[in-house]
Amino acid sequence: MARKKKKKTFKAIVILVVLALIAAGGYIGWKKYTARIEYRLGKAGYNKEETEAIKEMFSEEQQEILANLRAVPEIFGIARDERYQEDRFVDYLSGIAEGKDAETLLTDFDPLVIALRDTEGYKEENLQLYMQAIRDPDSGYISSASDFRLYYAEIVYRINRQLEYSKLEGYDPAIYETYETYTAKHQDMALQEVVTHVNTALKYKDEPYFIDAYLDRYETYRTANPDAALYDVILAVNAGIDKPFYTDAQHADMSKGYLVLVNKYYYVNDNDKPETVELGYYGVGEMEVTAAEHFRHMVDAAAADGIYLRSVNAYRTEAIQNLFYTGYVSEAGRAAADTYSARPGHSEHQVGLAVDINTASISKHFENTAQYAWLVEHCAEYGFILRYLPGKQYITGYVYEPWHYRYVGVEYAKDIMDSGLTFEEWYAFYVANPDLQ
Ligand code: DAL
Ligand code: ZN
Repeated sequence: MARKKKKKTFKAIVILVVLALIAAGGYIGWKKYTARIEYRLGKAGYNKEETEAIKEMFSEEQQEILANLRAVPEIFGIARDERYQEDRFVDYLSGIAEGKDAETLLTDFDPLVIALRDTEGYKEENLQLYMQAIRDPDSGYISSASDFRLYYAEIVYRINRQLEYSKLEGYDPAIYETYETYTAKHQDMALQEVVTHVNTALKYKDEPYFIDAYLDRYETYRTANPDAALYDVILAVNAGIDKPFYTDAQHADMSKGYLVLVNKYYYVNDNDKPETVELGYYGVGEMEVTAAEHFRHMVDAAAADGIYLRSVNAYRTEAIQNLFYTGYVSEAGRAAADTYSARPGHSEHQVGLAVDINTASISKHFENTAQYAWLVEHCAEYGFILRYLPGKQYITGYVYEPWHYRYVGVEYAKDIMDSGLTFEEWYAFYVANPDLQ
């Protein structure tokens, strides 16, 4: 009996042990099953398909992170976008948790956007335009900058500027560069003014002797003289004749030496008298020393060619000029006198650089003489120019004076004579030109 009982007890123990083993096995199996990533992703709220996608798209570490959060379905759209930055995985998740949408996050973590936002002058509202310009190789944003930062800075600057310009009247995007070049030189000018100015300047810019600084005056003059050719408008305004003769007269710029301009806008006085010498054998009066020397050489050279030249009048004081002028005024009236005689202070005879040769009379028709022909051909070789040209009274203020020669120096005389310009026109462009200062 006791033996039988013992046997039974043993059996029960075996059964219990077996059951326990089965239970333990099951528990271990269960534990193993629930530890699997698929299971845990399912628990986090992803369906089978999403779970598969996660396993395919993300690293194990990332899968772990996802399994530990409530399902974040937005991450799929983000991860599939070409702007997706894998190393920003956690940042995207935090962003989603903060309620930011996919587009915002993709933008915020796009390295291009980050670089742009870090660029001087960046404007958020222009971001798309910057990106477009960078991505589109045909956008015309070609940069010499080797550093991408400089390249971006250039794009940001240009797009900002173009948007600014595009609000202005008359803006032509095709000549953006021209506006910019102009703006760089005129920093104080309002952009609208630049656009208007440049647009107008384009009409003139291929004309010889165009001076940008005078553009407004050209336009005003042209309006008043609608039939005048642009070429003439430019020369007239350069010479200053858009203001009536003798208005706002200024002291001549003596610092220009032999190129000093004395005319109806520029005066001198007796203090401007240079050192002079008598011409003696070479004719009446005195001239500035160097001018006199060249005059003598010229006269000698002419003589060698059988041409007789002599000064009939050269240096004049202001008092002498006054005598001449008032004499003519009482003879012919002020208006007539003004066409052949300078008012006191305004004659270049007063600086000793002018000489009247052989005659000083219109009626003598010096222009028909061999002496005149010789002078026109040779005077520049000695630094002289014919000063009051035919057909240019509206510029010089004086009728044609074939006898009046002006010393300017050998260096420039030929250029001036060859240009066909009056000294006023030549001086305005080559000496006084504010664009060249
Ligand atoms: N005859 C010239 C213009 C003068 O008087 O200076
Ligand atoms: Zn003269």
